[in-house]
Amino acid sequence: MASLNLNQIISNSNTSFAVNRRPGLRLPSRIGLRVLASDSASAEPDLSITVNGLQMPNPFVIGSGPPGTNYTVMKRAFDEGWGAVVAKTVSLDAAKVINVTPRYARLRAGANGSAKGQIIGWENIELISDRPLETMLKEFKQLKALYPDKILIASIMEEYNKAAWEELIDRVEETGIDAIEVNFSCPHGMPERKMGAAVGQDCRLLEEVCGWINAKATVPVWAKMTPNITDITEPARVALRSGSEGVSAINTIMSVMGIDLKTLRPEPCVEGFAFSDSVICEFSIGLALI
Ligand SMILES: Cc1cc2nc3c(=O)[nH]c(=O)nc-3n(C[C@H](O)[C@H](O)[C@H](O)COP(=O)(O)O)c2cc1C
Repeated sequence: MASLNLNQIISNSNTSFAVNRRPGLRLPSRIGLRVLASDSASAEPDLSITVNGLQMPNPFVIGSGPPGTNYTVMKRAFDEGWGAVVAKTVSLDAAKVINVTPRYARLRAGANGSAKGQIIGWENIELISDRPLETMLKEFKQLKALYPDKILIASIMEEYNKAAWEELIDRVEETGIDAIEVNFSCPHGMPERKMGAAVGQDCRLLEEVCGWINAKATVPVWAKMTPNITDITEPARVALRSGSEGVSAINTIMSVMGIDLKTLRPEPCVEGFAFSDSVICEFSIGLALI
């Protein structure tokens, strides 16, 4: 994921964002990146950065998804030196989350999607974490106990219910996580319950839900944006105006990756059903940075 914080843009521009800071939040909140030249060939450059008071050894943040699924992979990310990890999105009741298989499709370069072509993108219809919340919270606690100085960010998503959002915030904050990323952006999860992109694409709903979240949270909050909207700056402004410290850009781009010419169904296809969904490839990083 390209994780982009708008505070820098706000402070460097004449835009009229009003960013409400939650009481007691550690500052500075601006991005400051230092790359120091060194006399010694062996010394590494200092890429440390402070974002919303979160001190990271470098600005490389693992996006919410498979690399944030459990303790083992998140620990591995810290051991490999990532600046911060955003865990896989959690909600109160994991039993509602039914992940299907297959949930990935490949995009290949070359004529007619030749099976030998190089893979240049992936589509996924993976939902948020289907592991029990208790398990995820226990692992967040273990990680923070082992790595108190590493930045662990909980990604959360709930239904259109203020009490549920508040309970989820309380429970993730109790584990000692450093910040919260709010998933307003998953295209397939689960719009019928007003979750994910269903909120991020509706500025009125976003403002209300963001207001609940920011009134409750005591750690920095980033609102994760969906690119599947005409003008991403509109929800980004709403999220910042509603008290979020930053926005993360971007979640996956809706797509149809391929059509099975025998069944005429889009891929991936699960027991005869298919869904147009998210593509990830180098293109999305470019789009996130525009
Ligand atoms: C398999 C898979 C699962 C994902 N799960 C989540 C998730 O649970 N929560 C979330 O906010 N984003 C999720 N994402 C989106 C990524 O965090 C990221 O925003 C997206 O892949 C676009 O960035 P990229 O092109 O750098 O991969 C998932 C992506 C993939 C591929």
